[in-house]
This record gives sequence, structure tokens and C-alpha cells, in this order.
Amino acid sequence: MKNLGHGTDGLGRPGQVEPRGDGVMAFGAVAFLVIAATMVGVLVSAADREGGAGGLGPTRTVAGTREVAATSPVVTPVEGPSWLRHLGLTVSETRMGQMGGTEPPPATGRREPGPEASGRGTPSALRAIMDRVLSLLRSDRRAASATLGTTFMLAGADLYRLNCQSCHGPDGAGAPPEIKSLIDPVRATSAGMIEQRMQDAGHPIREVMARQLAAQAKAAIYDRLRNGGQKMPPFRHLRGDEVDALMGYLQVLAGVPSSPGDSSLVPQSAARVGEHVVKGTCHICHDATGPGGGHMGMMRGTIPSLASFPRELSLSSVQRQVQYGSSNMMSMMGGPAMPAMPFLTEEETAAAYFYLETYPPRP
Ligand code: HEC
Ligand code: HEC
Repeated sequence: MKNLGHGTDGLGRPGQVEPRGDGVMAFGAVAFLVIAATMVGVLVSAADREGGAGGLGPTRTVAGTREVAATSPVVTPVEGPSWLRHLGLTVSETRMGQMGGTEPPPATGRREPGPEASGRGTPSALRAIMDRVLSLLRSDRRAASATLGTTFMLAGADLYRLNCQSCHGPDGAGAPPEIKSLIDPVRATSAGMIEQRMQDAGHPIREVMARQLAAQAKAAIYDRLRNGGQKMPPFRHLRGDEVDALMGYLQVLAGVPSSPGDSSLVPQSAARVGEHVVKGTCHICHDATGPGGGHMGMMRGTIPSLASFPRELSLSSVQRQVQYGSSNMMSMMGGPAMPAMPFLTEEETAAAYFYLETYPPRP
């Protein structure tokens, strides 16, 4: 993506960022070993912490999630202070929430929906649902909110866009050193790439060893999503099948050969999509509850709460804010500015708006 600087990853090596790139062996065995060693550390601490908390370990997901997938997703309200407030950072002190890029989401052609997906497994399904919600709003609010629960299928690529892209960018490169590239840690989840890389570096390892390391690398990512990182928020709202689909897309992004790809689709509802947008993106900067906008608030540079949107703003003004970002007037006043987020579609923003209205945010 031209708008992103291709920096270095946290290991001081150039990030390899072209999705599906073939030159994937670029990072050396040293960097790799550092990653592998870190993984083991992470695993130990993860095991310590896990104590009955019901983590999303890969073993558990394989066994436990397919049943959940059959039912309509459980949706919960967003709560608490923004992630930046939690970290004690202002918008201008970080790149988090600002790396989403300037491109609209790619057209559906990029995906290859399987037979089970035909007719429902694309963003057009969400568009149709949101159209129905909007047309029902005036006549039958109850039917409108029931429609928010209609199930349709969504791809791992979309889960990435809604939950990860505003920090890690469209290509996963992030903004090092603060937001590390996720490409190398994802490559470390491929036994094939590990073997190849060690071989190239003149330190061949046995296949069983490579598989073990790959499993550990994968578990470390699952643990990170469950518990967060140093500056990365936890993603406890993601279900096991969603994490699996996301992982499939991360591997595509990282150019892992013969990955199952982005073919796995997961059941979602419009309310659930709104939850991803709000928890994965908006909540980075906006508190769940608290004062809204209004001229005085804006002059003081306060960021309006999520709860204030459906209360104080029309859907179209929220859509405008997301599409184009802060108005020139806001920027002229020197306050914190919100970047444009054209990578979210109008109907995804609408889903976020009605999610906030239907599942009122909690302090
Ligand atoms: C609010 C910003 C933010 C969001 C959203 C976010 N991350 Fe991160 N991520 C970070 C930061 C910052 C780091 C650097 C390590 C740290 O501070 O935890 C990171 C690091 C990572 C790493 C490890 C990189 C390394 O070198 O070990 C992976 C993998 C990762 N993120 C995956 C994801 C995925 C998948 C998502 C979406 C579900 C996501 N992140 C969403 C901020 C974010
Ligand atoms: C990187 C931080 C950041 C993220 C992420 C972010 N915002 Fe903002 N937002 C701001 C700031 C700062 C303001 C105040 C300045 C302004 O109004 O432009 C703001 C203002 C707004 C306003 C204007 C409120 C008013 O009263 O006019 C709306 C609406 C809004 N954001 C919606 C969203 C939505 C929806 C999302 C998620 C898709 C989101 N924001 C994500 C930083 C962010």
C-alpha cells in the first residue's frame, strides 16, 4: 500500500509486506530464532495465567467452536474507557487507530466464496440487511432491531479490516517500532516456512521440531488476542471460529504458502459487525460512556463518547465523520483529529451506529 511506510519490524529488519509475496524468506534465521525463543516465553506465562479463565487455545477452538458457529452470534455492549485513555496516551502521541489507510475495502472479487457462501457470503448481504433496517425504522422499530440479528457469512479478511486494520494497516506492516509488523510472527506459524528458513540459514531442523515451533507461534498469537500485548488491546469478544478465520487471512497476508487461505467464512449478524467496528476500531480513541460532542466539548478538545452518537448525532453525520474524518474546522482549532476511515463501508458504520443504540455502552 503506497500510503504506508515500509518500516522495519521490531527486530531491525525490513518488513516484508506484499501480501502473497513470493520472496517470503527474507528474514534471517537470527530474527527467526529470536521470535521462536520469545514464543516459548510467552507460552509459559500464558499457561500461568490461563488458570481456568477459559482461554481460546487452538486445541480448544478445534474442538469447541463449530457448534457455537451454528447459532446467531452473542453480542455484548462496549464498556469502559478508550484504549488510549487506558494507556494514558493522546491521539497525537500514537499511531494506533490511525493506520487504516485511504483505500476503500477491496471489491468482493478478491475472495473466492465457496458454494455454501453463494448469495450470502459477501458484504452485499450486510448492505441488504442495513437497507431493511433503515426502511423498518420509522414503521416498526422492533422488526428493525430483530433484523439486526439476521445471520449472514463474513470472511476472515473482513474480520481483519474491522478489528486489526486501523492499527496494523491494510498490509499488516503496522507502524514500527510502536505497532510491530504482524507478518513475521504469522510466518512463524508455518512449519514449512520454518524448515525452509533454517535450511537456507545452514541450520536444518527436523520436521517434528518445525511443527512444534509453528504450533507454539500460533498459540502465542491466540494468547495475544485473548490477553492483549504491551500496548495492544485484548480481543476477548472474538469467538473461536472467528479467530480461526482471522488466522487464515493473516496467513494469506503474510504469504504463507499453501495456507487454507481466506476461504473460511463465519456466521455474523449486523449487530455483531457493529460490535467488531466499535470494539476493534472506535473504542481505541472513544470512551464507551461520558459527555458527547457539542461546541463546548469540542473546544476543550474532548473526544465524544460512543454512547453519545446515537443520542446526539444522525446516522448520516456519523457516516460522514468516519468516511472523511475530522472537519477542517476541528483541525483548525488545533484539537485532536480523527483520521478518515474509508476502509469501513457505509453499512458497516450504520451497523456500528445501531449496535450502539441497541446495546447501550456501559461505564
Ligand atoms: C489499538 C491498536 C491495535 C489493534 C487494534 C491490534 N493490534 Fe496487534 N499490536 C499492536 C501493538 C502496539 C503491537 C506491538 C506489541 C505490543 O505492544 O503488544 C501489536 C503486535 C501484534 C502482533 C505481534 C507482533 C510481534 O512482533 O510479536 C500480532 C501477531 C498482532 N499484533 C496481531 C493483531 C491482530 C490479529 C489484531 C486484530 C484482531 C490486532 N493485532 C489488533 C496494536 C494493535
Ligand atoms: C484515532 C482515534 C479515533 C478513532 C479510532 C475514532 N475516532 Fe472518532 N473522533 C476522534 C477525535 C479526536 C474526535 C474529535 C474531533 C472531531 O470531532 O473531529 C472524534 C470525533 C468523532 C465524531 C464527531 C462527534 C460529533 O459530535 O460531531 C464521531 C461521530 C466519531 N468520532 C465517530 C467515530 C466512529 C464511528 C469511529 C469508529 C469507526 C471512530 N470515531 C474512531 C478520534 C477517533
